[in-house]
Amino acid sequence: MDFSCLNEVVNLAATRTTHAISTLFRDHVRHKEARRTSIMVATVISEILKTMLGPKGMSKMLVTATGDVVITSEGKTTLEKLNVTHPIARILIDVAKTQYTTAGDGTKTAVILAAELLKEAGKLLGQNIHPTVIIRGYEEAIKKTLEILERLSKPVSIEDDEVLKNVVRTVMGSRIAMDLQNHLAEIVVIAARRVAEEDLGKIVVNVDNVDLTKKGGGSLNDSKLMNGVIIYKGRPHPRMPWRVENAKIALLNCSLEPFARKNVDWRKEYLIKMPEQLKEFIVEEKEFNRGIVENVKRVGARVLFCCKRISESILSCFAREGIIALDMTGKKDMVRLEKATGGKIVSNINELSEKDLGEAGLVEFRKISGDEMLFIDRCKNPKATSILIRGGTEQAMEELERIIKASLKAVAVTIECGKIIAGGGATEMEVAGELREFSRTFKGREQLAIEAFASAMEAIPKTLATNAGLDPINVLMELRARHNNGFTNLGVNALKREVEDVMEKGLVEVYKVKKHALIAAGETANAILRIDDFINVAKQRESGEEERLAVERKRIMDEKIRKLLEKEEELKQIDKSLMERMMHPETI
Ligand SMILES: Nc1ncnc2c1ncn2[C@@H]1O[C@H](COP(=O)(O)OP(=O)(O)OP(=O)(O)O)[C@@H](O)[C@H]1O
Ligand SMILES: [Mg+2]
Repeated sequence: MDFSCLNEVVNLAATRTTHAISTLFRDHVRHKEARRTSIMVATVISEILKTMLGPKGMSKMLVTATGDVVITSEGKTTLEKLNVTHPIARILIDVAKTQYTTAGDGTKTAVILAAELLKEAGKLLGQNIHPTVIIRGYEEAIKKTLEILERLSKPVSIEDDEVLKNVVRTVMGSRIAMDLQNHLAEIVVIAARRVAEEDLGKIVVNVDNVDLTKKGGGSLNDSKLMNGVIIYKGRPHPRMPWRVENAKIALLNCSLEPFARKNVDWRKEYLIKMPEQLKEFIVEEKEFNRGIVENVKRVGARVLFCCKRISESILSCFAREGIIALDMTGKKDMVRLEKATGGKIVSNINELSEKDLGEAGLVEFRKISGDEMLFIDRCKNPKATSILIRGGTEQAMEELERIIKASLKAVAVTIECGKIIAGGGATEMEVAGELREFSRTFKGREQLAIEAFASAMEAIPKTLATNAGLDPINVLMELRARHNNGFTNLGVNALKREVEDVMEKGLVEVYKVKKHALIAAGETANAILRIDDFINVAKQRESGEEERLAVERKRIMDEKIRKLLEKEEELKQIDKSLMERMMHPETI
């Protein structure tokens, strides 16, 4: 699909279903038309995402207004970059965003399911079933689905190396080659475990403590996990050492520029009235600087990071003493350094003591693709870490960064919630089967709504099968029949192109991702079904005539400015020639 005209397609989908009834307002759409519009718009958005679902899904190339190109198969990135203004489309984009921030994955699943639920609801609306009945049925189905998911989930612990790697592999799908997948699964699981901390008896994994640094050059396979962190800064002084082994590290949050004007950390001022006093000042300044460097040496620090400025003269003193010192280190980097080295940020250099120092086996400036970076490596028990992403092109590195971020979040969520669930559409098939049985316990029309909910669930295995080049109807029939016979974990393996016990084969997903996607889809569909009026309360756009006048006004203003500038230039020239004449009267 040509994304440049997507907005028009969405709006066309909206207008095709409506003939705006301008009873009260312009742009006022009511009841059946409103719902039909919503369903059409949701279908257009979902059709874009369907071809991208699963490991055999396609990527999209998105060209932004500034001409930047993004190639991605991520639902959230694609939706965010789409230039659509229709309110229903915006709601679905928000669903993807919330899904991403809460669970880190499952954005396409949530939007596709929401659209499918709306489509199924559309069929019921066509049979004159009232929307409130459908909403009630969907609410019952959501409640039941949560129960079924809980039952289908399996426990997992932070020690289950292989299961956590399988979660990463499912997130990565086939967006990257198999050997790279294995390499990254290893990196991601170690990184997530490294930053895991216990808080009130619970394990918390803060993925912000894993920094991703991209550097062009090499191949994606050269990407690696550091045993510490990377600071994107070069050597500040030519005599500073390139590397320090077994380094003790000081972290400072005060300026080391005592004689700078208005420096609140020091307030040192010298009033120099006579030339001899300048000499005295220079001697004293040297003495003072030496005192500062001595303070750092005394505690045994060989590396120093400072949030604020370090004066040139003090930097050169540090360099002479073989100490690596970096000033203006960002606040975020300082916190990461604290976590990685075990050091403590100190606000007064005079209070710096040995116990405040962090440690690293190696601190080294390395030149990578022409840029210098500082590696704080071989830390003992780093609680913050960096992943260095390498790659031949900016786009490839950016996509890898997105994949690693999503995988990290997936592992973090899995460790925190301690549960996994079957992938490959197996869970959706099982939920659909059980919901159909459940629907029979209702005597009213809600039964039809719950059945519709079940049919919507089957869109996931169906789409996975279609994208893998399988016959979706055959696959669906086989899955339905075998799930009815108790094969709970039977799903589609898109890579092998067959139906199998996915749990056994390690095709597992994060429980929270699936749960959140299903709830988000159900609640969004219900919220949209409740809408029976579209009223455009935005300020009406200027009419064609007004727009033309505004352009004309701007053109006249630009013309005036240009003329003024020309005048000024002319005056400058006159001034210049007058001055010249005054200076050299002989030339007149
Ligand atoms: N090898 C596989 N065979 C079949 N299905 C798979 C396989 N690997 C992953 N899946 C399924 O693919 C679906 C996820 O696909 P995908 O990652 O493209 O979408 P998403 O997670 O909803 O969106 P996004 O990752 O963009 O947020 C899940 O249902 C998952 O079980
Ligand atoms: Mg995914």
